[in-house]
Formats: sequence, C-alpha cells, structure tokens
Amino acid sequence: MKMQDLRAKLDSADMLGRVMVFPAQMQDAWRIGADFARTAATLNATKFSRVVIAGMGGSAIGGDLARSFLGDSARVPIVSCRDHRLPANVAREALFIASSYSGNTAETLAAYDAAREHAAAMLAVTSGGELARRCERDHVPSCIIPAGIPPRAAIGYSLLPTLQILRAAGVASFDDSEYEEALKAARQCVSNYGPEDDRNPAGELARTLHGRTAFVYAAPALLEGVARRWSCQFNENAKTLAHFAYFPELNHNEIVGWEVGDLMKRAVILYLEDRDDHPLTRRHADVGLSLMKPFAGAIERFDAPTGGRLSRMLATMLLGDFASVYLAYLNGVDPTPVKKIDALKKEMSR
Ligand code: F6R
Repeated sequence: MKMQDLRAKLDSADMLGRVMVFPAQMQDAWRIGADFARTAATLNATKFSRVVIAGMGGSAIGGDLARSFLGDSARVPIVSCRDHRLPANVAREALFIASSYSGNTAETLAAYDAAREHAAAMLAVTSGGELARRCERDHVPSCIIPAGIPPRAAIGYSLLPTLQILRAAGVASFDDSEYEEALKAARQCVSNYGPEDDRNPAGELARTLHGRTAFVYAAPALLEGVARRWSCQFNENAKTLAHFAYFPELNHNEIVGWEVGDLMKRAVILYLEDRDDHPLTRRHADVGLSLMKPFAGAIERFDAPTGGRLSRMLATMLLGDFASVYLAYLNGVDPTPVKKIDALKKEMSR
C-alpha cells in the first residue's frame, strides 16, 4: 500500500500533517519566544551558575536540543532534570526553566516546587495547566505556547522559546541567521520527506526498520538530543521499542552485548554523525561499528547535512520524525494515541 493510502486509513489525528507544519510552527514559536525574551532579558542582571531545564518526554527534548545546539558556546552548563526530585545542590544558583507542554506533569511540577526554594531565577514554558497557575500565583514569568497539540509534535514550541530565553538571559549568543537558515532547511525537509514520493528517504528508513528494533547511536555533541528524539519518536509514534546510546561510552560496555548470538539480527544500528563530533569519537564509531557489524541486522549511517548547527540538527531530527510516522503506517498503527502514557498518568494522579 502507498504511504498516502496508509495515511488516509490510519492517521486519524493527522500526525504526519503535524510534522509537515513544523516550519510554520518554527515561525510562530520564534515570534512567541521573541516576545517573551523581553521578560527574560531582565535575567541578564541575575547571577546564576547553571541552567536547569526540568521536563519529561516530549517537553524535555526541547531542553536537550537547546543544549546540543549551543554546545560549549553556552556560558554556563545546561542540565536536565527528568525526575520529581531536584537536588538542592543542582537548583542552587540556577536559572530554572520548567518545561511542560500540558503544564500538568507531576515530575515537572515537583521540580518546580523544589526550585522555588533554591533557584536564583525561574521561568516556565507551557501551554497552561497547573504549571501556568503556579507561575501566576508565584509571579514566575511563563511563556505561553498554543494548546491542543500532542507534546512531542510541539517540539518547535519547546525548543525555540527556550533558545530565545537563553540568549536574552546572556547564556549564549547566536545570530538570527541560524534560525533563518534552519527554517529554510526545515522547509526543504518537508518537501524531501513528504508522502507524495513514496520512495523518499524517510519512507525508505521506515521500511528498513519495519519488523526490526532501532539502536540509535551518536556522539554526545550536536546530535545527542536528536538521537534520543529519534528513539522516542519510534516509541510513541510507531509503537515500537528503540534504544539510543553514545560513542565513545557505548564502546566500553554495550558493544560486548552485540555478541548475543543471532538475537541482534533483528536490530538495525542507525548512526547519526556530524562534522563537529570529536575526531576521536568518530574514530571510535568507525572501529566500534566494524566490530558490531557481524552481529547487527544492518548498519545505516546518517551524515548531518551541510549548513549551520541549528539547521543540521533540525534537518536530522525531521528525518527521524517523518520516518517514525511512516513506520507507524507500516506497523498498521495510528501514530497519535499514546494510550499507555495516558493510562499511566491517570493512575498516578489517583
Ligand atoms: C506525548 C509526549 C509525552 C509528554 C510527556 C510529558 O506526545 O510526547 O512524552 O511530553 O508525557 O508531558 P508534558 O509534555 O505535557 O509535560
């Protein structure tokens, strides 16, 4: 069956359409972020020695991508908090950003409460919910993003305002031209990976993954957040297990696990590489992959396209986003519902 036909049959809430509107989402998110950044600019005078971004799942990835993009150009370390517990020694002297699309995620709310006691400054990025209410109560500025989108499909709304906030707060400096270039690249991705051409590279990637498990590998550099994003999108959209890990660390443990007989013949290694990756890490990947090759079903390498850092990062992310929706189609599932996450949240809130 053609992808277009599978889309009509399975994609009840149009997840593919949500991926395809990413460039428009980028524009809206950039504008919202710019308006909000005027508030964040006052933070420039506040002293903080790290940034903590608290969030879960789709809302946490925005922080990961921000950290990956800024790399070592960030003036202070940017750390993630994906738990109810935010250690006091992490929160202390931090610029704390709570990122929850719904505003109702218990872990993020708990981290917010913990940060109230210790953080040097606080902000939130949310579409509303309890987080927006607490921010209003506590006079914590919140950047309000549009509601009604599955959080993972609102990635532009969590990433771009966060970047604007970090720039306005003096954490990093980057030029608007990075954004303009990334927007162009995103538009190109939509035309390259759209469903009109049934054999487009994202569709081909989905075909490679059909009936197999993806092991997404990258360096802990520009594509670190993207590797996690690919894996999570395969989980949530395609309803399939996937795994991510990083070179060189995986060469010190995980590499040995590939020797488990024929089991890994149903696994595909997807290695995401970027020209800014450390040369020795690239060498580690080459050698490690050659040792894993006899055991893996297949190894596919993806070189980030040319261009600036934001453009390379988002173009690579979009390839995975499209592929995850096509993989859902091949798996015969609707990409949008995440019933187990919904059931889990309901049970936990009792
Ligand atoms: C659902 C999704 C999830 C949520 C996560 C946290 O599309 O991506 O991973 O992002 O359950 O919820 P929020 O984002 O509302 O804080």
